[in-house]
Amino acid sequence: MIKEEGIINRFGFNNVGIDQFIENIKKAKFKGVLGINIGKNFDTPIDRAVEDYLICFRKSYRYAGYIAINISSPNTKNLRHLQSDKYLEILLKSLKTEQKILHKKFKKLVPFVVKVSPDNSSKQLDSIAKLLLKYKVNGVIATNTTIDRKGILNSKYSMEEGGLSGAPLNKKSTNVIKYLNKCLMEKYLLSE
Ligand SMILES: Cc1cc2nc3c(=O)[nH]c(=O)nc-3n(C[C@H](O)[C@H](O)[C@H](O)COP(=O)(O)O)c2cc1C
Repeated sequence: MIKEEGIINRFGFNNVGIDQFIENIKKAKFKGVLGINIGKNFDTPIDRAVEDYLICFRKSYRYAGYIAINISSPNTKNLRHLQSDKYLEILLKSLKTEQKILHKKFKKLVPFVVKVSPDNSSKQLDSIAKLLLKYKVNGVIATNTTIDRKGILNSKYSMEEGGLSGAPLNKKSTNVIKYLNKCLMEKYLLSE
């Protein structure tokens, strides 16, 4: 949407899989900080999502500068449910335990950060922040794309399915950054 300076994408996580991804990384000549963004397979039931994240976490750990835990894409069915207490607690607990094991094994601490949706209520953000602190998660990325179309109601594309990004998301994501900053303040830090 040129006038609105926005994009709606509904790609999902179509890709060649973690093993080929790691082979590609091994061949790469990139020298900067490499952030690796991981998400569950679309057909893994939500109750078994942790297993997918752990597989990708273990396989990418030694190659990553940091790992982003994507639980906020609107294009993978139910993925954003992983932001709710019930799933997030077990996910963060498992990843933190694994991070400690891999830290020892590779003698290298790779931080992991959680990527959140802009469509959470302040109550949901409070719960997320509480768990980020409880499990000493190393950081948060705010935000992923939005399913909210308020900013582009006049566009002929407003009813297209997918996640909206760009200028129409800017205010909403900035508000999430502000809110999380208030919840987390300096407590959020995080060395383990
Ligand atoms: C085409 C496209 C593909 C994306 N794929 C991913 C993805 O695989 N994982 C992810 O966490 N975010 C993904 N995003 C979301 C972006 O990383 C970013 O969070 C979002 O676009 C909002 O930021 P922006 O308005 O500055 O673009 C994608 C965005 C676009 C436009």
